[in-house]
Amino acid sequence: MSFNYQDLDASELDFVGVAREDEIANGERLFVEVDEFNIVVFNIAGKLFAIGDVCSHDNGPVGDGELEDHEVICPRHGAHFDVRDGKVLSFPAVVDIPAYPIRIIDGQVEVGLPKET
Ligand code: FES
Repeated sequence: MSFNYQDLDASELDFVGVAREDEIANGERLFVEVDEFNIVVFNIAGKLFAIGDVCSHDNGPVGDGELEDHEVICPRHGAHFDVRDGKVLSFPAVVDIPAYPIRIIDGQVEVGLPKET
């Protein structure tokens, strides 16, 4: 099962404003909660990426983890995930985590969340 919501058509997403663009400086990260979604938005080298702040290994938060290039390392047991697409890259996790599309409208950062079906 894919959790990469970046693959969904815009008609299947609700874009929700989470911050102004200048509130997430280069090298910073922002944690946001929208409905039942816990999300962390990274600014890496001026580009924004949004993933679910939940590790697929033990459901712990992953967004506080150290970054190596585009990999975040879960602070609990060390699983690596690619923040660009949520792909799991190392044990002990074996399942991808959600990745969400981002768009910027009039300086507002918006994250695309799957519509309820
Ligand atoms: S909770 Fe993330 S690696 Fe265990």
